[in-house]
Amino acid sequence: MKYGYFDDNALEYVITTPKTPLPWINYLGNKEFFSLISNTCGGYTFYKDAKLLRLTRYRYNNVPYDNNGKYFYIKDGDTIWNPGWQPVKTALDSYECRHGLGYSTWKSSKNDVQAEVLTFVPMDDNCEVSKVTLTNNRASAAKLTLFSYVEWCLWNADDDMKNFQRNLSTGEVEVTDGGSVIYHKTEYRERRNHYAIYGVNSKVDGFDTSRDAFLGAYNGPDSPDAVKAGKCTGELASGWSPIASHQINVSLNPGESKTFIFTLGYIENPEDAKWEAPGVVNKERAKAMLSKYDNEASVDSALTELKDYWKELLSNYHISSSNEKVDRMVNIWNQYQCMVTFNMSRSASYYESGIGRGMGFRDSCQDLLGFVHLIPDRARQRIIDIASTQFQDGSAYHQYQPLTKKGNSDIGSGFNDDPLWLIAGTSAYIRETGDLSILEEMVPFDNDMSVAKTLMGHLQCSFNFTATHKGPHGLPLIGRADWNDCLNLNCFSEHPGESFQTFGPSEGPVAESVFIAGMFVKYGEEYAQLCELTGDDAEAARAREEVKKVYDAACTAGWDGEWFVRAYDANSNKVGSKECEEGQIYIEPQGFCVLAGIGVEEGLAEKALKSVEERLDTKYGVMILQPAYTKYHLELGEVSSYPPGYKENAGIFCHNNPWISIAETVLGHGNRAFEVYKKTCPAYIEDISEIHCTEPYVYSQMVAGKDAKFFGQGKNSWLTGTAAWTFVNISQYILGVYPTHKGLSINPCVPEDFGDFTITRKYRGATYNIKVKQNGAQKGITKLTVNGREVSGNIIPYEDGIKEYNVEAQLG
Ligand code: GLC
Ligand code: GLC
Repeated sequence: MKYGYFDDNALEYVITTPKTPLPWINYLGNKEFFSLISNTCGGYTFYKDAKLLRLTRYRYNNVPYDNNGKYFYIKDGDTIWNPGWQPVKTALDSYECRHGLGYSTWKSSKNDVQAEVLTFVPMDDNCEVSKVTLTNNRASAAKLTLFSYVEWCLWNADDDMKNFQRNLSTGEVEVTDGGSVIYHKTEYRERRNHYAIYGVNSKVDGFDTSRDAFLGAYNGPDSPDAVKAGKCTGELASGWSPIASHQINVSLNPGESKTFIFTLGYIENPEDAKWEAPGVVNKERAKAMLSKYDNEASVDSALTELKDYWKELLSNYHISSSNEKVDRMVNIWNQYQCMVTFNMSRSASYYESGIGRGMGFRDSCQDLLGFVHLIPDRARQRIIDIASTQFQDGSAYHQYQPLTKKGNSDIGSGFNDDPLWLIAGTSAYIRETGDLSILEEMVPFDNDMSVAKTLMGHLQCSFNFTATHKGPHGLPLIGRADWNDCLNLNCFSEHPGESFQTFGPSEGPVAESVFIAGMFVKYGEEYAQLCELTGDDAEAARAREEVKKVYDAACTAGWDGEWFVRAYDANSNKVGSKECEEGQIYIEPQGFCVLAGIGVEEGLAEKALKSVEERLDTKYGVMILQPAYTKYHLELGEVSSYPPGYKENAGIFCHNNPWISIAETVLGHGNRAFEVYKKTCPAYIEDISEIHCTEPYVYSQMVAGKDAKFFGQGKNSWLTGTAAWTFVNISQYILGVYPTHKGLSINPCVPEDFGDFTITRKYRGATYNIKVKQNGAQKGITKLTVNGREVSGNIIPYEDGIKEYNVEAQLG
């Protein structure tokens, strides 16, 4: 069942009922000011940091779900309704929500009154603009009252939901222009130099700034007293919970429309210019912001600017094929989700509260693989930021805070896959841009510039960390966990509440990871290539020798007969082996070892992927392990804490499905690679939205596995490494346009019936128009012509100065 449809020309997903299985959200904002917004107008807004600078309050974990947002109420006689249906939930005569790239719109009607709402964050201002148009489609005049409503958060979202003894006394506001502009200035009297505003470009007939006055002490936003009475109270908040609401009485003749523009903004003042009079905030910047968006023409042009920005960005990789679902994911939604992970990392979604994790070391390095072709300059800075949280021995803080860019010592280090992801991200950046100068940047360790080394020096530390932290089988030590945060082989936690990630000895001397072995082979080789490019052939040779050792260990101690072992535990027992009672086979080493090329020549790769197909595959995707753990295993940690079928315990963890698909392309299996791609691909499962539940335009972290009661149900949408890895898979491996140090390589691996396709790819300042003739083949280029000349091999040699490459590739 569907709850909407894709409108590819408009680059939008159109939701046709407010009653989606879960809130279906969108993200507004591209730089520093962000909003989450659901199809029923729920959500919240923050500046830079979802924890520390939260403008509006949201209630996670509440009933009903999706509680609080930026609401507009329309009172029409005795009928009160919202364009987004919530919170009043009056049945609407029509409803349509469109989520576009950085904006959302609603078009709803009740009793022949139509409301249109457009909400977006302009490119260059720290505000969210909402344009609200009311139209009277009746034969008679309509007298309506329009109310706006936002509830302020007292800035620190964590403190805001805990520290009531203080917070209920600190709230302060100011109101100007008869109520048109409401200033939220809690804590501005002391250490803050910022306040928030909510203004409308029209005279108002009333306002409210106190939640209790507006709603009534016993009501929720679903039945505000002020709206029922048709009149705000004009109360100035003092403590308790400040809000902002405008009341506008609107008379409309038959056929008439009126438009109002609301601006929700963040204003920062210089320390010495905070006040215009004692106790009165300096409003100069607020006024400038409000006047910029006080007319439709400037709002419309700001929206055009936003749309142009996205069109230009997405033109970096564009496919035209006979598979409309592939085209829409590649051209629009998958790249869009990659940009959202760039902006949010794992901080703020409907499943990440914005007050928990900051930026993940491994997460951010992997996200980069999906956006480096879109925003290479910002990717460059990101790499430097991440590397600055590395330690001198090559290990790294697992997370860092976006506002301070400092490592987070609560979680600390010891996740032994982390160091290698830095090589992955840096290599991807250099292959994309050719910018070797990044390797010469001086980068601190643990933010200490006095012990800085070049970025290349950091990569060497990463490489050496793995090379020098190996266990009894010559495989890399796992530490607290590797990619699988829940495989905690050195944890042994027996009491509830202990963190599986930080409890127990950080450095197990024995437990080993075959997954990290796969990573070391892949990214060790990429490190060696960087060494060669910088003229250090000796280091490249040393790196390859180290890689060879781990390769061999993976093929021997890491091999279980039909698939790769997952790990060795702290007692040197196998994890993910036929010898185990539960958890006999895991997906991660099958995917990563094969995509790294391990066991391809030896025939192991072929076997491993066959085993995956036989033992882990389902109609909704490939599960992370089987059989699911039915009891808690002290020696394995969090992985066995989840009920069977959920999360890392036999869920379909979407992040590693593309590893299997990529691995299949390595073996030339285009049919199977694409089959795996399709199973979790949002556009392909739109039809089962009632089962999948999460948004049909983005990936979720997890889909419940076959052992779960709700098999096929998605959870934790938006902020997942799945976005980057599926984009890498489809764009670089299946469609086969892969950036190498020498230029783009063309080596598609597609299903037999895929058909011919064309790709436009912008790369290092040039445009590549690539035509692929498939001839029914899955893989293997038989002829490659570049600007009319045939070249041998797969790589289009990059030449400085050439701006356009017309490429024809034949498969056969
Ligand atoms: C989450 C984490 C990621 C981890 C994965 C598997 O997605 O953000 O870092 O690799 O879970 O545990
Ligand atoms: C990942 C896992 C989650 C785990 C968390 C711990 O996000 O998906 O299950 O609790 O890491 O950091």
